[in-house]
Formats: sequence, C-alpha cells, structure tokens
Amino acid sequence: MAYLWLKAFHIMAIVTWFAAIFYLPRLFIYHTQALAEGDLKGVERFKTMERKLYRGIMNPSMVAVVLLGTGLLSLNFAGYLSQTWLQLKLVLVTLLIIYHFWCGMLQRRLAADKNDHSETWYRFFNELPVFVLIFVVLLAVIKPW
Ligand code: HEM
Repeated sequence: MAYLWLKAFHIMAIVTWFAAIFYLPRLFIYHTQALAEGDLKGVERFKTMERKLYRGIMNPSMVAVVLLGTGLLSLNFAGYLSQTWLQLKLVLVTLLIIYHFWCGMLQRRLAADKNDHSETWYRFFNELPVFVLIFVVLLAVIKPW
C-alpha cells in the first residue's frame, strides 16, 4: 500500500518539476528578447516570474521527487539497486539535477542583469530535459534491462 501512495505522489512531483523545468528556460528566451528590445518593465517582470518559478515550484518539486523516489527505493533497497534500469535512471536523474542547478545559476545571472547567452542558445538549452524525460520514463515503465 505504501508503495502505491509513494508512487502516486512521486509521479505528481515529477509532473510539477517538469512543468517548471520546461517553462523556466522559455522565460529566459522571452527575457533575452525583452533585453534586446530595451523593454525594462518586461525585464523586471521576467525576473520576478523566473525567481518565483525557480524557488516556489522547481526547487520544492525536485526535493519532493528525490524524497519520494528514495522512499520507494527504501522499500527494497538492495533489490532495486541491483537492477540496470534503475542504475541508468539514477545516472540520468543526476544529470537532470545538474541541469536544475544550472537553471538556478542562469536565473541568478539574469536577475543581476548579467546575460551570458543568446536567444538561440536558450532555445537549445530548453530542449535538453526532453531527452531525460523520454529515457527515464521508458526505463522506469518498460524496464528493458
Ligand atoms: C532520485 C530520484 C529518483 C529515485 C530514487 C526514483 C526511484 C523510483 C523507484 C524506486 C520507483 C518504483 C519503481 C517500480 O517499483 O516499478 C520509481 C517509479 C517511477 N519513477 Fe522514479 N525515481 C527518481 C526520479 C524520477 C524522475 C526524475 C522521473 C521522471 C523523469 C521518474 C519516473 C518514474 C516513473 C514514471 C515511475 C513509475 C514506474 C511504474 O510504476 O511503471 N523518477 N522511481
């Protein structure tokens, strides 16, 4: 029973984490456009949206995904860790956590009016987590190995 409850909340936290992971770099694109247009009011609004999204949704969701995932692991620690799909999943999740903190660093740079990247760069950056989502869900559901 604990297994199903943990898994249900694990999936809910994944949904909110990814909603923020996909939307924050989108805001960076609009923020960069507003900077190029000299739209200072727009820039300030994007800073607020980015800060609230990162701190209010993205950070708590990541913590919840990891805690609930660890709760699931703890139900059969040795059994899960001996499986290849889970080992691969944890490698990809580690990459996603690095991406998460990278987003946080970019958010703070933009908040300090220091933009290091072009709009095109943010567009490519925005696509990276799609691959993690596809492979992690396939690994977790199909468990091919
Ligand atoms: C530290 C982070 C994570 C840990 C420790 C973890 C661990 C686990 C464990 C042990 C299960 C139960 C698997 C089973 O019994 O079938 C599970 C289920 C699942 N996890 Fe994670 N997970 C983490 C992050 C993620 C992320 C980031 C995603 C999505 C991108 C994800 C997607 C899923 C899905 C879709 C299931 C349900 C699989 C099914 O029942 O068919 N997990 N997770």
